[in-house]
Amino acid sequence: MDKIVVCGGKKLHGEVNISGAKNAAVAIIPAAILVDGVCIIENVPNIRDVHVIVGIMEHMGAKIEFLDKYTLKVDCSCMDKQTAPQEMVRKMRASYYLLGALLGRFNKAEVAMPGGCNFGSRPIDQHIKGFRALGAEVSCEGIVKASAKELVGSSVYLDIVSVGATINVMLAAVLAKGNTTIENVAKEPHIVDVANFLNAMGADIKGAGTDVIKIRGVEKLKGGTYSIIPDQIEAGTFMIAAAATGGDILVKNIIPKHMESVSAKLIEIGAKVTELDDAIRVVGTDVVKNANVKTLPYPGFPTDMQPQIVSLLSIASGTSIVTESVWDSRFQYVDELRRMGADIRVDGKTAVINGVNRLEGAVVSATDLRGGAGMVIAGLMAKGTTEIHEIQHIDRGYEKMEEKFKALGADIRRVSE
Ligand code: EPU
Repeated sequence: MDKIVVCGGKKLHGEVNISGAKNAAVAIIPAAILVDGVCIIENVPNIRDVHVIVGIMEHMGAKIEFLDKYTLKVDCSCMDKQTAPQEMVRKMRASYYLLGALLGRFNKAEVAMPGGCNFGSRPIDQHIKGFRALGAEVSCEGIVKASAKELVGSSVYLDIVSVGATINVMLAAVLAKGNTTIENVAKEPHIVDVANFLNAMGADIKGAGTDVIKIRGVEKLKGGTYSIIPDQIEAGTFMIAAAATGGDILVKNIIPKHMESVSAKLIEIGAKVTELDDAIRVVGTDVVKNANVKTLPYPGFPTDMQPQIVSLLSIASGTSIVTESVWDSRFQYVDELRRMGADIRVDGKTAVINGVNRLEGAVVSATDLRGGAGMVIAGLMAKGTTEIHEIQHIDRGYEKMEEKFKALGADIRRVSE
């Protein structure tokens, strides 16, 4: 088990390249199951969740090869199993995309209830509602079993704006007979990316990025090459780290439009944010102003940036209120921040943060992926040394986080225990 050790107080300076988007990659790789041919997927982030989904699909008969560190060759034409290995599926949340992809290709899928970060209850009822609307019979007792004679296009109205359900129903519908309309869908950049990937392979999907997605079922998808978009959340994490350390960072290889809610919040707290074509420069401020934040589906402030902004606001001049409106329970990491001297009271889905002058280094844990990112930011800001344990959570979604921070001048290292 590794840990990250940070000696805080260094202002970060320099340039950082952002990797491909985790939440696009973990959907696009299983989406290749629907393709009758070879997919070359570029800009794949080198993170644990990608290796897990690749391992699961290889176990099921897919031929997958890394052509280089960031390029995957995926050939699912010889895939012969519709049942995903339970132990591996439970390692990650996004394994639920196997359901939509297998159902779409084979009219049959068996996938255990997925694992991933624990934010309270994480139902998949909207995914199942969508599969049923397309004509599948679905049972869900520990293992989700879905099957259909054939899938037929239909209308689905999602009761909750869900990233996973939007993508999963889209996956199941691309090869279905006839037309499907999915309403009240999520609009995150990775949803558009998955639709663009499928369209590049021959699907007919319109409206991704709006509230309504329309899909005309096609007979088959052919192979092709596709490059994954940059990771909005990794970019936001580095932007916040620049503001938190009073540094000056150019965050490169990003789509600035995806960062608008984060940029706006950083300007509100006093940072200087400059947008370039495919980069954003963030210059921190000596005094971080307090601010209120409410997490919302895109284009609102991302829930996956909530711990990072709370870390930053913990040293703001005044009281900030952060409201989590996507997940029931996403403040587990706050106990760890308190060990570092943060003054934060959590009441249900709201955190009231009374800014303190500075955080103090401590021994803490990454309670989940983004909580872990929040702890690294806290460590970069704190006086003294912070040891972050349980960093396997961070490795799920950030590529060599400590190396990227080190290149920006942070005193940070990974230590094997
Ligand atoms: N929900 C339901 N029923 C469903 C599906 C979702 O009630 O069938 C609820 C959830 O309980 C939650 C809300 O709807 O309260 C939104 O959940 P959503 O389905 O959008 O989340 P997800 O698809 O499971 C993805 C990301 C998460 C990110 C959320 C919200 C992936 C693999 N995961 O999860 O990312 O927090 O969207 O943006 O794409 C992360 O990267 O750290 C992470 C947790």
